[in-house]
Amino acid sequence: MSSALTDLFPHPIVQAPMAGGVSVPTLAAAVSEAGGLGFLAAGYKTADGLYQEIKQLRSLTARPFGVNLFMPQPEYADPAAVDVYAHQLAGEAAWYETELGDPECGRDDGYEAKLAVLLDNPVPVVSFHFGVPSPDLLDSLRRAGTFTLVTATTAEEAFAVEQAGADAVIAQGVEAGGHQGTHRDIPETDGSGIGLLSLIAQVRETVGIPIVAAGGIMRGGQIAGVLAAGASAAQLGTAFLATPESGASAVHKQALTNPLYVRTELTRAFSGRPARGLVNRFLREHGPYAPAAYPEIHHLTAPLRKAAAKAGDAQGMALWAGQGHRMARELPAGQLVEVLVAELAAAWTALSQGGAR
Ligand SMILES: Cc1cc2nc3c(=O)[nH]c(=O)nc-3n(C[C@H](O)[C@H](O)[C@H](O)COP(=O)(O)O)c2cc1C
Repeated sequence: MSSALTDLFPHPIVQAPMAGGVSVPTLAAAVSEAGGLGFLAAGYKTADGLYQEIKQLRSLTARPFGVNLFMPQPEYADPAAVDVYAHQLAGEAAWYETELGDPECGRDDGYEAKLAVLLDNPVPVVSFHFGVPSPDLLDSLRRAGTFTLVTATTAEEAFAVEQAGADAVIAQGVEAGGHQGTHRDIPETDGSGIGLLSLIAQVRETVGIPIVAAGGIMRGGQIAGVLAAGASAAQLGTAFLATPESGASAVHKQALTNPLYVRTELTRAFSGRPARGLVNRFLREHGPYAPAAYPEIHHLTAPLRKAAAKAGDAQGMALWAGQGHRMARELPAGQLVEVLVAELAAAWTALSQGGAR
């Protein structure tokens, strides 16, 4: 723990930003209060919604926290492919007694307005997903006193992150729950994601900036593993999704450890960009045909996901989860941080004595 990032918080544990109402202020506050780094997710929120969440979080904790932004995506969708997918989903809309969403209802997720919020009211840490912001922007954030992080899924992407001037890189392995933060969505590379330990080693030999490791981490022993491999901290999503403070639905939380869900898969079925979720009916039936079209498919399926959630139907929801989902523990977030820290200490002791066995 020697980087400026981990000087901000005592334990090398970052709670992943989770858009879609999961990483709410109460979750982020509990993690930051316990000595980890809590995160808010600006994705799918309005600028004012983000501002209000930051205000609420500040009222709950004076400790450092982060805010995550999705980078706007270039237009790359084939409208005809989106139409074909919409046709395929017509039966789902009839089943859930709703309409499909408008795929063209917004491309940039209010990015500029949210940036303005973060420049006017600087926060301790900002991270970016789905691409690299300009050097100028990263510099403006630094001058505002904000530490910047950008996700990378390959050593080449990590190099681009360092070149742009970010303070640290999030190395996201293929095990990770939710969206892969690949900088450009290239369908030809589907399924070629890199496992976390290998990725950390590759990134470590490519860049000099600190690394935050993400993907499939559920136990303190795994945190010890990524630190030993060259990371400065670990970012955990699925582990915190299961906590009582997380805003995920009860159905989503229960599914994580339900033996009905035996595996996860990367899919474009719900959003048009590869994201890892529990394999359920919707993913199985539509994943193989879903086109590369983000955020069009996200908007198209929004009413279906909402209707499925309202009906408590896990088979129609986007059950984002990393490969470690079965190891999720229903502990309060602050207690989870404490348990992870204890497991990490035990793993270090075991390592110093020549390994666990
Ligand atoms: C429900 C969910 C939502 C997510 N939303 C975001 C997000 O808004 N921004 C982001 O950078 N990463 C997001 N991620 C990815 C996490 O940052 C992180 O890479 C991932 O959770 C790590 O893998 P794990 O879930 O196995 O711990 C999300 C992950 C999950 C599970």
